[in-house]
Amino acid sequence: MDRPPLTDAPAPRAGPPSGGFGRLSFGFLGVSVLSGVLLVPFYSPAAAWDSLENIQGGLAWGFFLRALHAYSSFAVLVTMALHVVQVLAARTERQLAAGVWWRSVILLPVTIAALLGGFVLRGDAEALAALAIWKRILESVPFAGAEIARLFLGSVPGDLGAVALHHAGTLTLLLWFFTAEHAGRLLPDVRGTVLAALVSLALAGTVPLPLGAPPAASPAHLLGPWSLLGLQGALVYLPPAAGWLLPLAFVLLLGLVRHAESPARRTLLAALAAACAVYAFFTVRVLLSAR
Ligand code: HEM
Repeated sequence: MDRPPLTDAPAPRAGPPSGGFGRLSFGFLGVSVLSGVLLVPFYSPAAAWDSLENIQGGLAWGFFLRALHAYSSFAVLVTMALHVVQVLAARTERQLAAGVWWRSVILLPVTIAALLGGFVLRGDAEALAALAIWKRILESVPFAGAEIARLFLGSVPGDLGAVALHHAGTLTLLLWFFTAEHAGRLLPDVRGTVLAALVSLALAGTVPLPLGAPPAASPAHLLGPWSLLGLQGALVYLPPAAGWLLPLAFVLLLGLVRHAESPARRTLLAALAAACAVYAFFTVRVLLSAR
């Protein structure tokens, strides 16, 4: 990587061309990966809930480590979304070469898939329900759906080995490669990492992350990961294929923004804003119906 892609074109004004959230997102990714690696010795994909119970209650500082991993991972997505808004508001998307831009856009679904994988790794009642829905969505992909579902989710019921492999391996590596290419550096910068670590440590120390209901329990309301609640709400009315078609449509609309001139750019942005508003509506609806 000899030249950072972000400096290919002159920045319109001083300072980071699209604000500091991108650097912060890379910092949170660093904290997430480090804390995830520290969790590995205590986690078993074949006895997920039991190992989480042990991490949470039987391991000194285990609850803290788990919360650190979860909150730093959530923050990757939050800061990434804020960074996208900054880029679109500052109209700086063309500072990335087209290929880098598309791979950066793909970071969004890859992050959400990593978060979903982590949610499923909890192995609690909600995680098992999310796994079953994820399987039906993947199986609805034409021609190779069943094979794709087996590849990502495994074929042995109750064993989360394949999910764990993609969570910590494939998806995390993709996230790191695409982020590093986008940022023009292999590692997050010191300032972004220190800030991300401080925020994650503060959240892990102050906001408890509860253990979910055991896998055999049947809670009245099952909620998926917070970032997918809007999709959960929409899937009540739509077939499973909407679970991959809608995110694909969103990613394509976002990707095309870089290639569009006004007024087409404005139309794309309006469509994206409308999609976000509908998503927020379904998210609130799911949350209200679970109360
Ligand atoms: C080398 C990289 C990683 C490793 C080794 C790893 C490992 C793990 C392990 C063992 C768990 C299960 C324990 C638990 O639930 O606390 C887990 C959960 C989780 N992971 Fe990762 N992870 C990695 C990267 C990531 C990334 C990149 C993200 C998202 C950006 C992420 C998001 C999550 C989430 C949201 C959970 C569920 C936390 C919870 O509610 O308990 N992980 N991870």
